[in-house]
Amino acid sequence: MSDNASANIGVIGLAVMGSNLARNLASREGNTVAVYNRSHEKTQALVDAHPEAGFIPAASYEEFAASLQKPRTAIIMVKAGWATDAVIDELVKVFEPGDIIVDGGNAYFPDTIRREKAVRETGINFVGAGISGGEEGALLGPSIMPGGSDESWVTLGPILKSIAAVAEGEPCVTHVGHDGAGHFVKMVHNGIEYADMQLIAEAYDLIRRGTGKSPAEIAEIFAEWNKGELESYLIEITAEVLRQFDADTGKPLVDVILDQAGAKGTGAWTVQTALSLGVPVSGIAEATFARSLSSRPDQRAVAANLPGPDEEFTVADEAAFIEDVRLALYASKIVAYSQGFDEIRDGAAEYDWKIDLGAIAKIWRGGCIIRAQFLNRIADAYAENAQLPLLMAAPYFAEALTRGQAAWRRVVIAAAQSGIPAPAFSSSLAYYDGIRADRLPAALVQGQRDFFGAHTYKRVDKEGTFHTLWSGDRTEVEAEDTH
Ligand code: 6PG
Repeated sequence: MSDNASANIGVIGLAVMGSNLARNLASREGNTVAVYNRSHEKTQALVDAHPEAGFIPAASYEEFAASLQKPRTAIIMVKAGWATDAVIDELVKVFEPGDIIVDGGNAYFPDTIRREKAVRETGINFVGAGISGGEEGALLGPSIMPGGSDESWVTLGPILKSIAAVAEGEPCVTHVGHDGAGHFVKMVHNGIEYADMQLIAEAYDLIRRGTGKSPAEIAEIFAEWNKGELESYLIEITAEVLRQFDADTGKPLVDVILDQAGAKGTGAWTVQTALSLGVPVSGIAEATFARSLSSRPDQRAVAANLPGPDEEFTVADEAAFIEDVRLALYASKIVAYSQGFDEIRDGAAEYDWKIDLGAIAKIWRGGCIIRAQFLNRIADAYAENAQLPLLMAAPYFAEALTRGQAAWRRVVIAAAQSGIPAPAFSSSLAYYDGIRADRLPAALVQGQRDFFGAHTYKRVDKEGTFHTLWSGDRTEVEAEDTH
């Protein structure tokens, strides 16, 4: 059967992302693409719509496998969850040791670790690959974050490099690390995406309520910001969204969109994982919770009766305020990325992945949703010191924070005084002040823990673990360390 094998890569699951990825693959020199979908009509429709792609359609898994050269390589583009397991089960039946199954969906990384382990036992390689960039990215060049074995990367690397976005002459793909490393990094990418989006939304809200400018006028401010250090895809599309008018009502589109943000779960995974690892990703967490808060209409209706401040929010100097918001946005963004990179570093240590943080910054420069100029600075910082203990303390970012901190404080004060929620701005500032503090009230928390639970504490002035006899004569004794 393999004599007829003429495809070097196959795609399974031909909804928009899968179809676009298949078309992207087919458009690159040297690729011949086999395609398969559970309902054959979809396969046929894609083949008919794109004769130029030279797709090899398959009506069954057997036909699909037969059309692929060895090592057979297939990218699964189905909805994350049980559908992925169902496709893997079928592929394992028709593939052979050495072949490669790639899951290009937004899988939860523990699932990828589990799947990789199970598939490896058959001798087949399993690669969880995060793919970012939405429908357009899939078609024109996404950022790709593959995990899996070194062996699979040998075959997969050139294929993925052929379809990835290119930033500064380099393809936006790297072998992130083994088993679930790729999906872990994609998960954190999405967590940062949530923070970035929430920060931009807070900036818009503050400017609108502080200056009374219209969405279209604020669009111009974002377009202007996009020429400077905030240059990024998310700032660019924000201007586009704010410029849009609703055809039915003639109102700004943003005013007729229901203010309840959805989420498919990747932000929540980022926060849950960070909680387990003990990494403070407070900006990402607040952004995720801000979506949850927005989507509780019943509670919001009841809470609408609670009082806010009496004074109207007025801004004396509009231009100065807008510049303050810009600086606050940039500073908060630095915190969000610093926290996200912390999570990747700690995740890599926990799961024994060798992740090159500078390489991650580089593959996020193009194709993905959080693509931004700024990622060059992150790549530079890790190039200078791969063991950087805290990204935001690297010289470039420390300078930006120093430059922005007074404005950041003014914006958070204005938000608090005028009753405008700015959870991501303010939690990022609190993180900044917390992490740079000489001394934290954590000492008092330790005292409280020792009081009610004999959890013990350490001292600043001598080695050892101590406990105060709170219910006795309150003398201090040396104790076993129970944290
Ligand atoms: C990307 C996006 C993409 C998607 C997510 C987020 O990198 O291309 O992150 O994966 O938009 O599903 O969606 P939610 O906002 O619905 O969680």
